[in-house]
Amino acid sequence: MPHLRTLCVYFLVALSPVMTNTITEDIDVLVFLPQNNSYLFSYERVAPAIHYAQKRLKADGGQYSGFNFNIQFENSDCLYDAFFTLADRSCGQKPDLILGPVCEYEAAAVVRLASHWNIPVISAGALATGFANKNKEYSHLTRIAPSYVKMAETFTAMFEHFTWKSALLVFEDDREQRNCYFTLEGVYHLMSNYNIESYVLTEDKPLDTDELLRSINDMGVVIMCMGADKIREIMLAAHKRQMTTGKCIFFNVELFNASSYGNGSWKRGDEYDNDARQAYAALNTVTLLRTVKPEFENFSIEMKMPFEKVGLRDCNDCENVNMFVEGFHDALLLYTIALHEAMKNEYSKKNGTEITSRMWNRTFEGIAGQVSIDANGDRNGDFSLMTMTNVEAGTYEVVANYFGVNGTFQLLPAFNTEHFTLKGGDKDHPEKTDKSDTPCKCMLITCLTLMAIFLVQCLFSLISPRPHRWTRSVSFDWSHSRSCSGGCNPCSILLFQKKLQNYH
Ligand SMILES: *[C@@H]1O[C@H](CO)[C@@H](O)[C@H](O)[C@H]1NC(C)=O
Ligand SMILES: *[C@@H]1O[C@H](CO)[C@@H](O)[C@H](O)[C@H]1NC(C)=O
Ligand SMILES: *[C@@H]1O[C@H](CO)[C@@H](O)[C@H](O)[C@H]1NC(C)=O
Ligand SMILES: *[C@@H]1O[C@H](CO)[C@@H](O)[C@H](O)[C@H]1NC(C)=O
Ligand SMILES: *[C@@H]1O[C@H](CO)[C@@H](O)[C@H](O)[C@H]1NC(C)=O
Ligand SMILES: *[C@@H]1O[C@H](CO)[C@@H](O)[C@H](O)[C@H]1NC(C)=O
Ligand SMILES: *[C@@H]1O[C@H](CO)[C@@H](O)[C@H](O)[C@H]1NC(C)=O
Repeated sequence: MPHLRTLCVYFLVALSPVMTNTITEDIDVLVFLPQNNSYLFSYERVAPAIHYAQKRLKADGGQYSGFNFNIQFENSDCLYDAFFTLADRSCGQKPDLILGPVCEYEAAAVVRLASHWNIPVISAGALATGFANKNKEYSHLTRIAPSYVKMAETFTAMFEHFTWKSALLVFEDDREQRNCYFTLEGVYHLMSNYNIESYVLTEDKPLDTDELLRSINDMGVVIMCMGADKIREIMLAAHKRQMTTGKCIFFNVELFNASSYGNGSWKRGDEYDNDARQAYAALNTVTLLRTVKPEFENFSIEMKMPFEKVGLRDCNDCENVNMFVEGFHDALLLYTIALHEAMKNEYSKKNGTEITSRMWNRTFEGIAGQVSIDANGDRNGDFSLMTMTNVEAGTYEVVANYFGVNGTFQLLPAFNTEHFTLKGGDKDHPEKTDKSDTPCKCMLITCLTLMAIFLVQCLFSLISPRPHRWTRSVSFDWSHSRSCSGGCNPCSILLFQKKLQNYH
């Protein structure tokens, strides 16, 4: 019965996609990455990772191999390029997925338009606090790298653990990409229960170490985000004034550029190296937690190959896989999982809302380890705390980890409590408060009075300029102006009442 057999084969072939769960579909992906290699997320660094993910999904031979990704790369200049490229498509074929841009201001424009067009956007950037509001203009944004607010959780966990009450944020604002501004904005935003002040360095306001050290002395804990040379300058000045012996605790945040922190970061080959090494014994660094699993080795080697072939050119530190490279790899993976699930449930690839929602509140296996996206479409982050454990050699070790997925702070064997104990008296401002130990037994009359004062001050704070720059940013709407967000719970009114005193 040869005919029946042929028929059977045809039948099986026709059925096989259904049986193996394979869905066939062409997917247009538009990727925005800078051609300029001075960015850690330049085309040359990140594109191989996206192609690697594409190859793996195809080769898996399984449920995702029916997706044909047509990937188109466009330039991002961190200003307008990406937005104009996208806007040019308004009458033509729109992509099914957008990856990038990374830079905050450029991402804001692209995500707004894409959300309006119902196109999912996944970025390993767009880390600023404002993007967390997904109700409207950023509704289709999924952030595959931990945002600055997620990083800030590391500090709230530490502040809780060590019962610190106040901190000075010191950062450099370049008024362009403003990475440090956005980084510490996350801390400022999340730590509203603490007494936080800030010290900003700009081109017009260069570093005045005397003034800065006075502020540091008042606050006890300092969180810095700056170029490595400025950090060194501050640490040397602090060391000279004996402020590095436990009177103050210093942190710097360095998330992306692995080669700029850790062992030897104090070293410049100048006459101050010895002092710097001792000063850095008081400097702790918060960075991304590095995980390595066997598959990562292969990925990492493949990422280096293009650079080994052509030489390093103008690309510095190119051989290191960073958060952006990993992120864009995992972005394609996450989208594919969500798309597959949506299509199995009879949704079309054009239903961006549905696909986006299936990327959120999900944990999957990324190239370097587990990736967990929270219910708001933002990745939970894991961070490490590094300190100098051998002052003689000037070497650093990871002493603690923070896991965003369950909010735990894990102390490692190298951890030394003494190192994180503030010595030399309580530097807390008298008016600082702590939610947990504020007794809240206010009577109705007191409550009403407070409420009235609160409202007046809210009004006042809205019309008067305030010392913090975060409330008057140019492009984003940072109107989560926190002094008015206390609600009408008497306890929170009390707290905000106290807080307002600090502001005025
Ligand atoms: C690349 O970017 C850097 C820093 O933003 C800039 O100084 C440089 O001129 C750019 N290079 C090119 C070729 O545009
Ligand atoms: C990374 O850090 C190294 C060492 O501090 C520095 O030379 C390099 O310019 C940094 N790269 C970027 C992109 O910030
Ligand atoms: C620094 O060096 C020490 C000793 O060589 C090593 O154990 C540690 O892992 C290094 N730390 C970093 C961050 O590279
Ligand atoms: C990585 O894995 C792929 C597939 O398993 C293999 O073809 C490739 O040779 C590996 N690359 C390296 C550098 O080991
Ligand atoms: C997309 O999916 C949502 C459910 O998430 C559904 O309500 C909506 O009708 C779908 N839109 C289209 C165009 O199919
Ligand atoms: C997230 O997923 C869990 C189960 O995986 C579910 O219980 C929870 O309700 C989801 N949260 C949201 C906000 O959708
Ligand atoms: C939190 O998550 C991390 C990483 O997944 C895990 O190692 C740790 O044991 C968890 N801690 C708790 C208390 O669940």
